[in-house]
Amino acid sequence: MPRLDRLFQPITIGAMHLPNRLVMAPMVTNYASEDGQVTPRLIDYLSARAAGGVGLVVVEASYVRSDGRGFVNQLGIHRDDLVPGLHQLVDTIHANGAKAAIQLFHAGRQTTSAITGIQPIAPSPTPDPATGQLPREMTLADIEQIQLDFADAARRARAAGFDAVEIHGAHGYLIAQFFSPFSNHRTDEYGAGIHGRARFGLEIVRRVRDVVGPDYPIHFRISGEECVPGGLSIDQTRIIASLLEEAGVNALHVSVGNYATPGRLITAPMDIDRGFLVPLARKIKDVVSVPVIAVGRLENPLLAEQVLAMGAADLIAIGRGLLTDPEIPNKARRGDLDAIFPCIACNQACIAYLMEQRPISCLLNPGCGNEREFALMKSARPKRVVVVGGGPGGLEAARILAERGHTVQLIEEHTRLGGEFATATVPPKKEEIAAALGWMISEVRRLGVQVLLGTVATPEIVQQSHPDAVIVATGARPVRPPVTGLDRPEVVFARDVLLGRSAVGGRVLVVGAGAVGLETAEFLVAQQKKVTAIEMTETFGTGLEEGHRYWVMETLRAGGAVLLNRTTLEAFEANGTVHVYREGRGEILGPFDNVVLAAGYRPNDTLYQQLRACIPEVYLIGDAVKPRSATEAIREAVRTARKI
Ligand SMILES: Cc1cc2nc3c(=O)[nH]c(=O)nc-3n(C[C@H](O)[C@H](O)[C@H](O)COP(=O)(O)O)c2cc1C
Ligand code: SF4
Repeated sequence: MPRLDRLFQPITIGAMHLPNRLVMAPMVTNYASEDGQVTPRLIDYLSARAAGGVGLVVVEASYVRSDGRGFVNQLGIHRDDLVPGLHQLVDTIHANGAKAAIQLFHAGRQTTSAITGIQPIAPSPTPDPATGQLPREMTLADIEQIQLDFADAARRARAAGFDAVEIHGAHGYLIAQFFSPFSNHRTDEYGAGIHGRARFGLEIVRRVRDVVGPDYPIHFRISGEECVPGGLSIDQTRIIASLLEEAGVNALHVSVGNYATPGRLITAPMDIDRGFLVPLARKIKDVVSVPVIAVGRLENPLLAEQVLAMGAADLIAIGRGLLTDPEIPNKARRGDLDAIFPCIACNQACIAYLMEQRPISCLLNPGCGNEREFALMKSARPKRVVVVGGGPGGLEAARILAERGHTVQLIEEHTRLGGEFATATVPPKKEEIAAALGWMISEVRRLGVQVLLGTVATPEIVQQSHPDAVIVATGARPVRPPVTGLDRPEVVFARDVLLGRSAVGGRVLVVGAGAVGLETAEFLVAQQKKVTAIEMTETFGTGLEEGHRYWVMETLRAGGAVLLNRTTLEAFEANGTVHVYREGRGEILGPFDNVVLAAGYRPNDTLYQQLRACIPEVYLIGDAVKPRSATEAIREAVRTARKI
């Protein structure tokens, strides 16, 4: 059993005693009501995370004034009538065994009038690069009022029973806008030099302290670096951290970035190494004596333990990991690390949904934010169910069915399970997807699902099992466009290249630079191939999450790949040259050793149509209905498996 002694050591911060070092990072969910009230959905979601064993739950960034709202259904703490709902939330978190803090927030210029109904405010009248909207420069009277608003919010937090507050001074929101020369161009006492820029945040800490009293824990979140030209460097943040300690904060929580930071580092995608922010936490820890909280892809308990052992931080915050698996701390405490369902840092249903102003969820765990709807109930009438297709949808359907007490057989035509997930594990930096797939497969086996590999399911084979119900998750087949020369043997499918079923030479043309095409190009570039990718539309990597797309494009650029948009394939010649139509005229590219097709998928629903005629209860799910994102395929699989 792994030793995780440090993770499960108690710690005291101000008047708050925590049973362990694991903190749930604040995450806006968009589960609150339009006027910022706590909802049953928010309570269910946070109860599940508290019950999962974290010592402290930091409730999401909550706006202290209505012009500071950053998201349409964000939680508010700006009015006294919100306190009873917040109290109920705290009581539930406590009842589930964790302490509760709440993050106090004002978006400043990182919001829009579409969300707040009013022009955003900021230290300086400079538009945020992400929103493009011109903010109003804050007057001295505005500055004082907002400081009072933070203090009022802290008073409400205390009245609601929260054990601590965390002031949000990170990620480019209002307080961070004051800290940073990137956004603060003032020449008065709230700008002009680091002490002037720090003043707004320091005064907020003092005003909050006046309201909450001497022992009440005030945490403060900062971005160690902003990673934008002219933004905060770690050396500047170290100065601010020391000043914050002097002003009376009890803990510092070290994150990174603002909205303009390229590659979505705040919620680092899978391209970024686990624990990449630990060096920043350590540099802050070197200059303060209050506890430091580290964050950023630290959900692996062994890594978290190592960070504590190195002395780089005192507590570990986990964000997305707890969306996928709220039970990480309990499983770690039991030493059952293999039971953890690992987040794949795909960002697809959490931060990407939030940025679209949708309620967050998790690609792998559709029950996140839908705890009641997706609660697992044993079936009253266990059945024999056949699932055809061992991709992520089929695997999850089989897992849920087996959990619910059904007898399940899973039939997969290939000799390995995984479907689209198996191909997705191949491009560089995809170890996380492999780990998640490994978890799904081991769960299916643990639950006694009978797995038939290398078996092409026909109606006869399915009927041999005498199923009461069948779920068809046969996915989609790649499309071969009707273009001259694409029937030649040098033309292969991206999926086969990724799975090692088709080898390619040194000069490769990838046709279709959407999600699959771009990742295949990345895979080939990593093997030192000379890659050209053509795309009919304007945009490369459609369907890839924004942060991940940025890093894939960086790798392709660094690897010398040629990317051509608005380019249509017209013919592939025997000599390896390719005719394309581009910017109103024909062009010849190449020669190439191979053409790799990533030109889309067509649903594969033949078996479903055949089975409908002979089996009364048949369901078609996932890409076999229509090629879509894995989030939708898994959600549909889980929903279907719950209703059988
Ligand atoms: C959906 C979502 C919402 C977030 N909202 C907040 C927030 O309210 N306040 C904050 O400081 N950070 C927020 N973050 C950042 C997380 O607190 C955390 O720093 C980040 O996800 C990195 O940690 P992780 O790798 O463990 O997910 C959010 C992240 C996600 C995914
Ligand atoms: S959507 Fe992806 S990144 Fe977000 S929590 Fe789920 S697995 Fe992790």
